[in-house]
Amino acid sequence: MKIAIVGTGYVGLVSGACFADFGHQVTCVDKDGSKIEALGRGIMPIFEPGLAQLVERNVRDGRLSFTTDLAEGVEEAEAIFIAVGTPSRRGDGHADLSYVFAATKEIARLLKRPAVIVTKSTVPVGTGDEVERIIRETAPKAQAWVVSNPEFLREGAAIEDFKRPDRIVIGVQDDGAAEIMREIYRPLYLNKAPLLITSRRSAELIKYAANAFLATKITFINEIADLCEIVGADVQDVSRGIGLDNRIGPKFLHAGPGYGGSCFPKDALALIKTAEDHQSPLRIVEAVVKVNETRKRAMGRRVINALGGDARGKTVALLGLTFKPNTDDMRDAPSLSIVQSLQDAGAKVRGYDPEGEEQARPLMPGVMFCKGPYEAAEDADAVVLVTEWDALRALDLPRLARIMASPLFIDLRNAYPPADVEAAGLKSFGIGRKSSQKIL
Ligand SMILES: NC(=O)c1ccc[n+]([C@@H]2O[C@H](COP(=O)([O-])OP(=O)(O)OC[C@H]3O[C@@H](n4cnc5c(N)ncnc54)[C@H](O)[C@@H]3O)[C@@H](O)[C@H]2O)c1
Repeated sequence: MKIAIVGTGYVGLVSGACFADFGHQVTCVDKDGSKIEALGRGIMPIFEPGLAQLVERNVRDGRLSFTTDLAEGVEEAEAIFIAVGTPSRRGDGHADLSYVFAATKEIARLLKRPAVIVTKSTVPVGTGDEVERIIRETAPKAQAWVVSNPEFLREGAAIEDFKRPDRIVIGVQDDGAAEIMREIYRPLYLNKAPLLITSRRSAELIKYAANAFLATKITFINEIADLCEIVGADVQDVSRGIGLDNRIGPKFLHAGPGYGGSCFPKDALALIKTAEDHQSPLRIVEAVVKVNETRKRAMGRRVINALGGDARGKTVALLGLTFKPNTDDMRDAPSLSIVQSLQDAGAKVRGYDPEGEEQARPLMPGVMFCKGPYEAAEDADAVVLVTEWDALRALDLPRLARIMASPLFIDLRNAYPPADVEAAGLKSFGIGRKSSQKIL
């Protein structure tokens, strides 16, 4: 099938490369000329494991191409996926749909043959109706069916998630469009991926409800971790104890510095706004957003407390800066709030990230970037593990203890058993663990 993907970011590029790998003929379009030019030279605009090889293979085999020319992608396509950004709108937290609507208009003007227009971007419930209206208004004679197909891939595991999804959700208003979507995803039947066909509005809401639920689960265990510190319990044990209950499950029960990234923060906010607009408020999600915001700021205070309450003139090394491992994405990363509060308190901050430095640099003025964890830790007064990249999970702890000015190891991901940290001669501060009591 001939497919066009409009917007070649994390979602568009991964989706395009995977669809091509299924055997479809895919053209990825983006307005950003430098991105397309780099892709033409085989350079990936993002860090995502396995992506470069997947793109290279499909370009070589002639199934995948990149262009800035929308007409080139759209005119022949039987399915056109919209995968542009839907960031938070400045000021009110609603999803900013201007990129989606602009792309829709541009696509509508170029429609020459019957096609399904698929929103893969995360869009609030009812957006499909508006996309449909824009198409009818811009191109009254066009034969187009608007479909919602939200994407659930996780950065860092995006290709595996796309090829082996827990489910594929397709929101349609008529059977013909459902048939075309089934055809597109047919290669995944072999992987037994459940295909859920719903109304367009249900599909749109599934995406937000899923993200809000996961954000709630993370925030729940984070608050339990704080309670653990006060009552002398260990959140790792509590988390395992509740996660073994099949009704709860073990995933997303790891206490940490608060959720970040390109999706949960903005999607939780947008869902709250949708609910407010429909006078059906979501109080739980509202609380989650507030608790998470407070938590990210509190992480800097945690470090300052561990330093004895005064960070002025002290050197703090942050290891791992991206919002999670295996991505270079810095959007809403907890490290941003931590850097800010440490710098506000007069600390000198050093940073190291295996892949995120280029994205992090412009967002963290005043931070000294280092080539590796030990360079960052040299003569530091505290080392803070912010993001648990594999490369940071087996640090030489005795070496850290030897090279640091004072041996404080603050593990915001509970990646190390406190006993191991202490045996290496470091003072251990995890999250919600006995060793971290009283630094809330
Ligand atoms: N990043 C994720 O992990 C993830 C996961 C699931 C869903 N989503 C959703 O997918 C959507 C895209 O997210 P992303 O992270 O890939 O965004 P992104 O910012 O990485 O990419 C968006 C791309 O769209 C391009 N673009 C904007 N307007 C365009 C137009 N009119 N024509 C052509 N290109 C245009 C931009 O130049 C940019 O390259 C969002 O709605 C997001 O919420 C993201």
